[in-house]
Amino acid sequence: MCGIVAYIGHKEAYPILIKGLQRLEYRGYDSAGVALLNEKINLFKTKGKVSELVSHTAHKDTQGTIGIAHTRWATHGEPNSTNAHPHFSESENIAIIHNGIIENYESIREFLLQKGYKFRSETDTEVLVQLIEDVKKEGNYSLFESVRIALNQVVGAYAIAVISTDEPDKVVVARKGSPLVVGIGSEGDFYVASDAAPIVEYTKSVYYLDDEDIACLKANEKLHLKTIKNEVKDPLTEELDLNIDALEKGGFEHFMLKEIHEQPDSILDSMRGRISAKDNTVKLGGVEDYEKHILDAHRIIMVACGTSWHAGLVGEYLFEELARIPVEVEYGSEFRYRNPIITNDDVVIAISQSGETADTLAAIDLAKRKGALLLGICNVVGSSIARATHAGVYTHAGPEIGVASTKAFTAQVTVLTLIALRLGFLKKTIEEPVYHSLIKELEDIPNKVEEVLKTEKLIKEIAAKFKDARNFLYLGRGINFPVALEGALKLKEISYIHAEGYPAAEMKHGPIALIDENMPIVVIATKEGNYEKIVSNIQEIKARKGAVIAVVSKGDTTVAAMADYVIEIPKTEELLVPLLATIPLQLLSYHIAVMRGCNVDMPRNLAKSVTVE
Ligand code: M6R
Repeated sequence: MCGIVAYIGHKEAYPILIKGLQRLEYRGYDSAGVALLNEKINLFKTKGKVSELVSHTAHKDTQGTIGIAHTRWATHGEPNSTNAHPHFSESENIAIIHNGIIENYESIREFLLQKGYKFRSETDTEVLVQLIEDVKKEGNYSLFESVRIALNQVVGAYAIAVISTDEPDKVVVARKGSPLVVGIGSEGDFYVASDAAPIVEYTKSVYYLDDEDIACLKANEKLHLKTIKNEVKDPLTEELDLNIDALEKGGFEHFMLKEIHEQPDSILDSMRGRISAKDNTVKLGGVEDYEKHILDAHRIIMVACGTSWHAGLVGEYLFEELARIPVEVEYGSEFRYRNPIITNDDVVIAISQSGETADTLAAIDLAKRKGALLLGICNVVGSSIARATHAGVYTHAGPEIGVASTKAFTAQVTVLTLIALRLGFLKKTIEEPVYHSLIKELEDIPNKVEEVLKTEKLIKEIAAKFKDARNFLYLGRGINFPVALEGALKLKEISYIHAEGYPAAEMKHGPIALIDENMPIVVIATKEGNYEKIVSNIQEIKARKGAVIAVVSKGDTTVAAMADYVIEIPKTEELLVPLLATIPLQLLSYHIAVMRGCNVDMPRNLAKSVTVE
């Protein structure tokens, strides 16, 4: 899980590559490197962030109109400058950047060691570049052919860009299992990247490589495309629908804060054109042709990881309540390894912001082989999961750069609500007045989110009070249990405070033992749902001196009298509470993390999309 960028054309490559890496830094930030091709290849790499690479290259020769660059999230070998990309072949005539994992690298390494090759790093990527050099030497092939032949010997995932001093006017790129986009510039130049973010300011005309595509890029020539099996392909270019402003912080201190504040718009965008209270309709063009198949399904299996898995849990509640279809929610990483029983009567819904999460991808691959219908709920258009599924609904939340997922979650929950409403309507499992009031209320959710965001000042005060806590508990019941899980995950990942989410009633079966005056407990205690039960749970906490931070419905006085802090959110339908209750928890985590001096947008050890197992 890394970010890769390449450029070939008439402009200076270095600034384009560095800017591109900065845009991709959310994918990994252990180390960074750049290689520029002139008569020889000038290679610079460092441990740490792109800013450290920039300091490292100051006063060095970074000239050249062809280059490749990389920002890494370590898999093989610790994050140091030796293991950083690009990697040289032994002769230093070839350099490569790679995102993915070469699974059979040990056997290839052994083969190359026996032939006398020496290795500088511990990476699987260096093995690949040495293999390319070996193929080239043995067969006297062109760079393109050498890469193509070498890739046929490789098991695993890759998005690569390769340059060579022997052919100093080309960049060869290829992909399998890891994303790669080529932007076709208007001046005969090409921009390559792991996603469209580094490309959009130069061109909107892009080609998303398919698995096993390999392309040769030469300035002023057409993109030369084949499969690694040597079949010639026509590159079908697409027009990017991405706004450059969406990739900037827009005056906010962090992307995460900007993305939290974007939620009135992102939720609206995820509903746009799909819902109308006036006409009393929900329409989802992306899955229209499959509605009968979904309604006939024996069950729906949602597969996802992390925050998207939490959205799946909310989805389970919505689907079962509104459409009366049995739902199971699975972690992609577990599902794929336990021989699950899947038939062609099952529908599998993969939920993923990035659309690149390796475990989710592998899970749908398995489900596909077993005959299930696959649907995707992805944010990134053209992503691997979006392409691997039969149909789907994009969340349209806009680019999410902060590693902690925020607006993607509420957009996923919105889309799941729309699907559940549509299925319930078709199945006649929702009564007409309920259907109508849910649509009406859903349309009003962006305004209510706007109102929730106004609690930020209070949340900041609460954050200041609890920023030094060592543990947190998050409790919710019913549809708000996944909200508790999500609140705990947000706090863990960006502030490094241990936090657990629990169904409130489960507390007495164990976690209650943890409660004392040092334990802050966030409780989602809105009027909708099991209110009286939650009130009892709060009493149990207070009896043990726990500090309660309660998210309550506007005007609540009962919980307000018991809790240490209350955050009010507007009243809404029970099924829509997660769309509002999640937001204070995002803000609480954000402010605690900032007060603890944590790097909110790039928390340690994490990366935005986990494209490794
Ligand atoms: O891109 P995806 O939605 O598939 O990513 C899944 C998880 O890796 C992701 O939600 C992760 O848990 C986030 N860091 C949570 O904030």
